[in-house]
Amino acid sequence: MPKEPLITTSNFQHISVLNDYLLESISNLSTNQLNQGLIIDATIGGGGHSSLLLEKYPQIKIIGLDRDPTAIEASKKRLLRFSDRVNIIETNFSDFSPKEKAVAIIADLGVSSPQLDIAERGFSFQLNGPLDMRMNQEKGETAAELILRLEEEELANLIYLYGNERLSRKIAKKIKYILNKEEGVIKTKDLAYSIAGCYPPKARYGRIHPATRTFQALRIAVNQELDSLEKFLKIAPDWLKSEGLLHIISFHSLEDRLVKHAFKDDSRIQRVTRKPLIAHTGEISKNPRSRSAKLRICRKK
Ligand SMILES: C[S@@+](CC[C@H](N)C(=O)[O-])C[C@H]1O[C@@H](n2cnc3c(N)ncnc32)[C@H](O)[C@@H]1O
Repeated sequence: MPKEPLITTSNFQHISVLNDYLLESISNLSTNQLNQGLIIDATIGGGGHSSLLLEKYPQIKIIGLDRDPTAIEASKKRLLRFSDRVNIIETNFSDFSPKEKAVAIIADLGVSSPQLDIAERGFSFQLNGPLDMRMNQEKGETAAELILRLEEEELANLIYLYGNERLSRKIAKKIKYILNKEEGVIKTKDLAYSIAGCYPPKARYGRIHPATRTFQALRIAVNQELDSLEKFLKIAPDWLKSEGLLHIISFHSLEDRLVKHAFKDDSRIQRVTRKPLIAHTGEISKNPRSRSAKLRICRKK
């Protein structure tokens, strides 16, 4: 029997971040560039950023990419009225190669709210879903399979490296034990509870849930997010026309570090922003997820 879709296009709700900075940056392109120019939205998600751009610039065309089939479906629906100017493609941005050069690229990294908010996607430790975490649930290894496959030491290193979790050894030992015992069938909330148990009692009730870092590490590993970003940083400047702009919004320091160094060291581009642009308090109060967003922009020489 075909599976029911977990997110319908009508409930794909995601608030786009740093819109004002993005729109201001795009407005710096010349009229010539904006006239029928191509913008590549490498992480189209629910189509929020793209819809703003299509609305504001009636001449531009957009190619939108996403590795999540649900996001593809949602953005196609949201951008239906612009369909003659939009081409949406399901792919990892690191595997893409455009036929035409673009005047701007946007990559708004990480996960979208609907991915986090649907228990069955397995990203959230506050909801009880299967331990999945794949951005594309048709491809690759789930978080449960990853934990079962790795040796305890490899798992501890991964949690330390991608989650900056100082209790990585203790947590790796515990979650290997539980996953083996349950033969990989464990729910996210139950795993989060076990991770919290690795913390001393006083540290279990801080501002950040004790499972946050471990869940971040597993998600990054399952989706090979940093590998994709590194590859993207190598190929994206070649997708741009001269003077074209590359915008990258990252959500944690591992991503931001890669972007910062690539923008500084790549001879094909020059930095537009030396320091990352961050959300104003007004945006953070409306959308707490924007708190950790960092936008860096560079220009193709
Ligand atoms: C933060 S959301 C983008 C939201 C979008 N900018 C908007 O305004 O609606 C990030 C999206 O990027 C996608 N994504 C993450 N890594 C990707 C990759 N390597 N290739 C393609 N899509 C990716 C995710 O599936 C998710 O839909």
